[in-house]
Amino acid sequence: MKILENYNLKNHNTLGVDCYCDQFAQISSLSDLESLPKDIKITEMLIMGTGSNILFTEDLNRFVVQFKPRKYITVVDNLVVAWAGTPWNDLVTWAINKNLGGIENLALIPGLVGAAPFQNIGAYGVELQDSLVWVEVYNWHTGLYHRLSNEECMFSYRHSIFKYHDQPWIISRIGLDLRSDHPVNISYQPLQDKFAGLSQTPSYKKVAQAVTEIRQSKLPDPYQVHNAGSFFKNPVIDPQIAQRIQRRHKDLPLFETKHCPDQKTSAAWLLEQCGFKGHREGDAGFYDKHALILVNHGSASGQELLKMSKMAKRAVKIKFGIKLEEEVRVL
Ligand code: EPU
Repeated sequence: MKILENYNLKNHNTLGVDCYCDQFAQISSLSDLESLPKDIKITEMLIMGTGSNILFTEDLNRFVVQFKPRKYITVVDNLVVAWAGTPWNDLVTWAINKNLGGIENLALIPGLVGAAPFQNIGAYGVELQDSLVWVEVYNWHTGLYHRLSNEECMFSYRHSIFKYHDQPWIISRIGLDLRSDHPVNISYQPLQDKFAGLSQTPSYKKVAQAVTEIRQSKLPDPYQVHNAGSFFKNPVIDPQIAQRIQRRHKDLPLFETKHCPDQKTSAAWLLEQCGFKGHREGDAGFYDKHALILVNHGSASGQELLKMSKMAKRAVKIKFGIKLEEEVRVL
């Protein structure tokens, strides 16, 4: 394993931001993992996949370990086991080709398998936690592997135990329960619209194709337009605030959430109402087809993108009294 000093991560984050780190190493196997230095403190390490959910705002005094994309998927005891460095969408495609259901709604999500449990990736009515059985972690202090069950991962909306940062863990593999009799989920309105009038249940492949089309129609490809997907989470909204907003805005989107009794609203809608859809200052801005996507149009710095995100957050707070929380990791 080669360790590079003072390395620029510009080509390793989809927002395309300049960011130097003290040391950088790429890993592509268990033996690479096991050869990592054992004495590095948690706060001095950063584990990365393709950097598709991260905003760097300053240089890092850290040892950055990046999984090199490499597909490795097996079946063990009826579970699908994927190496953390497997590109997420390769896993989805693999499952569909084997007619195994459970993650077809998560098609085209950028990033690697190892990043998926970190934020419990979700889209179109499905979350990783719905099919995940275990996560294997490597403890770089002890050199031992450990398995966490679904419950131990403490999943919730875009959240998991892995966000607490208090264990020297690197996610190495995940085990998923994917089945050929897994019920298809087309409850999400745009999917219902796509399949309206169809008499039989669509195949996993058709669902993944529909999800891919919907994503491509409104979300920019991070390798063509620098972005990190949804920049903020959809906020849970206090019923009284919802009523107050609805007096002026009858079209306020409200939807149920499986993680808590309160409803959520759309962060994209809030941002659009505040004029941020397509808004741009220099090279920092929000996408013109979806207000929730922070975009680097060229050479915006991490600080400029952060400034734009803070401006948007403040505007939503002032206009609606709602505090937006970042969905991407801001470092
Ligand atoms: N909307 C607007 N303006 C916009 C875009 C959307 O008002 O510019 C409103 C519309 O009312 C629309 C609603 O927002 O019906 C929901 O929009 P969309 O279906 O695009 O979903 P989202 O809530 O903005 C979430 C996830 C996405 C995921 C989609 C589909 C979060 C933070 N984002 O977005 O995940 O793909 O649902 O399930 O939960 C990501 O995490 O990076 C991501 C893209």
